[in-house]
Amino acid sequence: MKMMNCLQSWPEPIVRVQSLSDSGIHVLPDRYIRHPSDRPSFTPISTHANIPVIDLHSLLAARDARLRQATLDRISGACREWGFFQVVNHGVRPELMKSIRQLWRDFFHLPLEAKQVYANSPATYEGYGSRLGVEKGAKLDWSDYFFLNYLPESARDENKWPTTPESCRELVHEYSKAVVELCGILMKILSVNLGLEGDHLQNAFGGDDVGACLRVNYYPKCPQPDLTLGISPHSDPGGMTILLPDDDVSGLQVRKGEHWVTVEPIPDALIVNLGDQIQVISNAIYKSVEHRVIVNSIKERVSLAYFYNPKGDLLIEPAKKLVSKDRPASYSAMTFDQYRLFIRQSGLWGKSQVESLKCSQ
Ligand code: OGA
Ligand code: NI
Repeated sequence: MKMMNCLQSWPEPIVRVQSLSDSGIHVLPDRYIRHPSDRPSFTPISTHANIPVIDLHSLLAARDARLRQATLDRISGACREWGFFQVVNHGVRPELMKSIRQLWRDFFHLPLEAKQVYANSPATYEGYGSRLGVEKGAKLDWSDYFFLNYLPESARDENKWPTTPESCRELVHEYSKAVVELCGILMKILSVNLGLEGDHLQNAFGGDDVGACLRVNYYPKCPQPDLTLGISPHSDPGGMTILLPDDDVSGLQVRKGEHWVTVEPIPDALIVNLGDQIQVISNAIYKSVEHRVIVNSIKERVSLAYFYNPKGDLLIEPAKKLVSKDRPASYSAMTFDQYRLFIRQSGLWGKSQVESLKCSQ
C-alpha cells in the first residue's frame, strides 16, 4: 500500500521544459545541469559507425528464400551486436508516419492551458508529463512527453487522449494498428533467429493480451545543450520499441562499447530496439542496449516511441531452450508489472534495473 501511495503525486511542482525554453532563458536551471561525467561531450562519440539499416521487403513481399535468409541473418547480427537497427519497407505507410508526427508537433504547439488538461500523475503516467520517477530533487531531463496506453484494450482510456488536433484519436488508432502488426512480425523473426518456435516470444508476452503504449517525446530548443540531456541513458524496460524519429534533426545516441553512436535517421525508416524483457527471455543472447538523447539550441525535436510489452502479470524468464549447463539462466523470473513499478519509482537510469535481476550464481 505504502508503495502505491508514493506513486499518486509528484514530489514537487512540475515545470514544463517547453515553458522554460519559450521563456528565453540563457542559463540552464540547476535541475537540468548534469554532472560533468554525464554531459554529452564527456564520452567520445563514434563518427565511423551507424546502426544497421535493414530492408524488410524480402520478408514481407518477396518469395526468394535466399534473400529471406540473408535478411533474417542481418537482423540476427543487429540484435546480437547492437540491440538496435533501422528498418525500411516495414509496412507502415510513410504518409501515416508523417501525419502522426505532425499531429503531435501541433499538439505540443498548443497553448499551455490546452495541454495542462492532460497533466499526468505517477499513478499511471498517462497524459502530458515532464518527468519519470518520483525521487525528490532528482536531476531532470530536457523534455516533455505525452504517454498513452493502447493495448490491452482494458488499459486503453481514449478520454485521456487529446481531442485537439481533431484527428488525434483516429490517427493514433491507425498508427497503433500498423505498428502492432509490425511488432508481431518482428517477434516471429526474433523467435526463429533465436532457434525458438516462431510464436515463442509472442506467447511468452501473453499472445493476444500483449501490452502496447506510446510515448511521444518533445525536446524543446535548449540554451545550453552541452550541459544537459533530452533523456538520460537508459535501456527500455519492456519488450521491443519502435521509434519514429524526427525527420529533420537527430538526437538519439546508442551505446557501442565505450562510445556513443549518433543515429542518423534515413527517410521513412523506423528504428527498432530491444528492451529488457527480450534480454531476459533470450537469456542475454540479445541485449537491451543503453541509449540517450542529446538536444540542441537550434531546433526542437519530436519522436514517437512505441513500446511493445509483455502482459503485466506473466512471469518473464529465460526460454528453457536457451538455458543449458553451459549457459545457466542469467535472470530470475519477474512479472513486467513488478519490474515497471520499480522503474516508475526510481526513474530510468542506465542498465541497473535489468542487472539487478541477475541471478547470483
Ligand atoms: C524513449 C527513447 C529516444 C528518442 O522514449 O525511450 O529512448 O529519440 N526515445 O526520442
Ligand atoms: Ni528509450
